[in-house]
Amino acid sequence: NWQYSLRPRRLAEYIGQDQVKNSLSIFVQAALTRQEALDHVLLYGPPGLGKTTMANIIANELGVNFRITSGPAIERPGDLAALLTNLGEKDVLFIDEIHRLSRSVEEILYSAMEDYALDIIIGKGPSARSIRLDLAPFTLVGATTKAGALAAPLRDRFGVICRLEYYSPEHLVCIVKRAAQILEIDIEERGAWEIAKRSRGTPRVANRLLKRVRDYAQIVGEGTITDEIADKALAMLEVDKIGLDRTDRELLLAVIKKFGGGPVGLETLAASISEETDTIEDVYEPYLLQLGFINRTPRGRVATAAAYQHLGIAVKEDSQVKL
Ligand code: ADE
Repeated sequence: NWQYSLRPRRLAEYIGQDQVKNSLSIFVQAALTRQEALDHVLLYGPPGLGKTTMANIIANELGVNFRITSGPAIERPGDLAALLTNLGEKDVLFIDEIHRLSRSVEEILYSAMEDYALDIIIGKGPSARSIRLDLAPFTLVGATTKAGALAAPLRDRFGVICRLEYYSPEHLVCIVKRAAQILEIDIEERGAWEIAKRSRGTPRVANRLLKRVRDYAQIVGEGTITDEIADKALAMLEVDKIGLDRTDRELLLAVIKKFGGGPVGLETLAASISEETDTIEDVYEPYLLQLGFINRTPRGRVATAAAYQHLGIAVKEDSQVKL
């Protein structure tokens, strides 16, 4: 599908994350030179920044197969054993949301990562025995939005740990222009900037907005994405000048209007805007934290003066805003 075709397949096509690219490039070349499996890699950072894409690229650069799964999809140790025993020499196994692995699965992953072996318990009670299955050397690439949620023994088994950062508008402009070229969308430089500035540092958001702005340009405009068309389309989508959407604003407004600026606990806040706590933590909060619009305190979330300012709300004298 198009999503897939937009994804860069090689490191040289991948825009941004220069530090991650530079180090991975060296580790991949070293593994290739020694004809070894690459050490296990942990990619972490907010959603939509290209963790899956990067994992796929690692496999392509190594010239090996890429197998993809996720923490919640591996329900039992046997599911993981099936995946691992089907891997070829030096293949890449990608586990998305690796912080959501169950304890029992995580425990058999340790020996798989460390010794390329599976310790499987067969039978129950006094007759239970452990048998050791040797695996082909492989590379585990794990991805998580929360490195802190990983158990230390698991985290420590990754030889390479990379944090993906929000993209600069300059990098996002390049990403928007590249996607526009692949999708044969007519876009002006200033149109690309308008989308880039409002994509909350996230290529997945940029590509989605590009598609919606293209729709608007074709139906309301004359087919070309200009800055004016982009601005009108994004206003229609309720994406504001700095990329906040309705839910972001609803969240900030709830903290400010319903809870006096905070602190308010995550659960209470989530319930008040009918969102899942996980969605708030993983999707909305990271960018609001990055903008400095909210702070996390031991007693809950607090809206900052910058948030009041952005929403055009006067900061009250007695409010609990802390900077
Ligand atoms: N599409 C989405 N993310 C990208 C990236 N980082 N580089 C190039 N194209 C992309």
